[in-house]
Amino acid sequence: MCGIVGYIGKRDNPQIGLSALKRLEYRGYDSAGMAVYNPEKQEIFCLKAKGKISELEAKFSDAPLHGSPFILHTRWATHGEPSEANAHPHWDCEKNIYLVHNGIIENYKELKELLIAEGHKFASETDTEVIAHLIEHYFKNNLEEAMRQALKKVKGAYALAVIARKDPGKIVVAKFGSPLILGINDNEFLVASDASAIVSHTNQVITLDDNEMAVLSPNDFFILKEKPIEKIEYDAEETQKQGFSHFILKEIFEEPDAIEKSIAGRMILDQGLAKLGGLEQVLEQLKKVDKIIITACGTASYAAKVGEYMFEEYAKLRAKTEVASEFRYKNSILDDKTAVLAISQSGETADTLEAIKEAKRKGCLTLGIVNTVGSSIAKETDAGVYCRVGPEISVASSKAFISQLSILALITVGLGRQREMSLVTGKNILEELQKLPELSKKIFNQADYIKGLAEKYSIYRNFYFLGRKYNSSIASEGALKLKEIAWKIHAEGMPAGELKHGQIALTDENFPAVVICPSDSVYSKMKNAMEEIKARKGKILAIATEGQEDIKNLADDVIYIPKTLEMLTPILSTIPLHLFAAYLGLELGLDIDKPRNLAKSVTVE
Ligand code: G6P
Repeated sequence: MCGIVGYIGKRDNPQIGLSALKRLEYRGYDSAGMAVYNPEKQEIFCLKAKGKISELEAKFSDAPLHGSPFILHTRWATHGEPSEANAHPHWDCEKNIYLVHNGIIENYKELKELLIAEGHKFASETDTEVIAHLIEHYFKNNLEEAMRQALKKVKGAYALAVIARKDPGKIVVAKFGSPLILGINDNEFLVASDASAIVSHTNQVITLDDNEMAVLSPNDFFILKEKPIEKIEYDAEETQKQGFSHFILKEIFEEPDAIEKSIAGRMILDQGLAKLGGLEQVLEQLKKVDKIIITACGTASYAAKVGEYMFEEYAKLRAKTEVASEFRYKNSILDDKTAVLAISQSGETADTLEAIKEAKRKGCLTLGIVNTVGSSIAKETDAGVYCRVGPEISVASSKAFISQLSILALITVGLGRQREMSLVTGKNILEELQKLPELSKKIFNQADYIKGLAEKYSIYRNFYFLGRKYNSSIASEGALKLKEIAWKIHAEGMPAGELKHGQIALTDENFPAVVICPSDSVYSKMKNAMEEIKARKGKILAIATEGQEDIKNLADDVIYIPKTLEMLTPILSTIPLHLFAAYLGLELGLDIDKPRNLAKSVTVE
């Protein structure tokens, strides 16, 4: 989703901004643009391009711009098609104010009508452009003052970086509901949607909070409130592909490491206890909770579903998954004995953030499982657990999902041991969890085999994925990953029991099934489903447990995963599904890091 970069300081080559902007490509976008203040000419010059940043870069090489400050943007279309006219930066009638924006201005239609009635002329279909004209309306040679007044009229979400020809030598930034950070260096300041864009320049950052505005000048910066400078905990190397052709492959191969990082130092094995520092301050409240709602979007919502099964079976706590975009409007029955747990890689997903705000309004204890440190959801929740798996760059989530499952298992032990779970069971879960980093590495010995399967199955355009119990939502995750990364394919995931209630009507030799059937309490039922598919000539690719030789009589192809506890099988069964989707996307010649139309961090509702 939209990315913002800004710079003010001694360097006057906006190439630094373009390089930083490229690091935000992963967020998803369909046009890009930049505006640069040229101090000699006392003018702001602008370049825009539809499509990739490389298109913008080509225009920049043909006609380089020089100066400082400069602001840059990648746009993911919401209001108005992807086009040069709709790409940011946007400006006012006088070509004084230039701005880039991430978020959605909900009352832009009303504002636009008022501004048009005043004589303002609009050049785009975007909601963003109204902010430029609104600032123009209030502008009297002080940009921040005009912005302060303009933003009082605006409803919706924004992260903004603004420059003005008539008030040069500063970038003014403001935030409400969309992320924005400041990077601090000697005599230069940067602005970005997230730290990965600027980590090669500085690791000193300030995360802006909602309703904050900052004024950056070459030698100083000023925020409306005193704030601590934080240190970014990862380095520029972690945001590189490190020898892999694509980030998604790198991130899938990091999945064993993701389990390790998620559980490291978080177990007291001999007491069968989970040691989750981020939850310590709410342990007493958690004892009193009698229901937990897990809320999330996309891939994270499938982790939530696995968590629901874990909490009910092992922690004996009523649990329910609610997709965050529904949770807000459903008006669930909540009270002070309900905890609402948000799961989010980015910590910025607008629907999930709003769900948490709604839960807080209703008096619930709010918790988070979040990867991005200091993100909005991490800040909004009462307590939580960080994934600690480093930046995830590819649009489709992979290692973060594995981490979320691992942490849900830890929280299950935490909640369970406060309730009826015995020491022996707690210990057993933790011991099995501890083995998973090593066990999961073994799956990668089959990487070439899985690549071969992707090639074999690339002739099909429809797939369905089946699983039961803990793996029913892994079926959904497998299907989602395939349609995200290999988007020429349609895939659906469902609980295997649903096969006979609809899907079977489509089953034939051209509609293969991926069946997740480890040796667990529902294995015999999974075999029934496979028999039903076989009887209709359907091809079957099975994910089974090592040693399940009988599966070869039913499945056309089998990928084996190591044996583990039933509740932990999703952590292992997901890995081959992620690899299969990535290899299939490559086989179809697609950009598997940046799937068509998708955005990594969905900061609009
Ligand atoms: C987007 C991404 C998905 C992700 C979902 C939730 O749709 O493309 O990969 O699962 O957002 O994101 P979150 O950051 O909240 O986990």
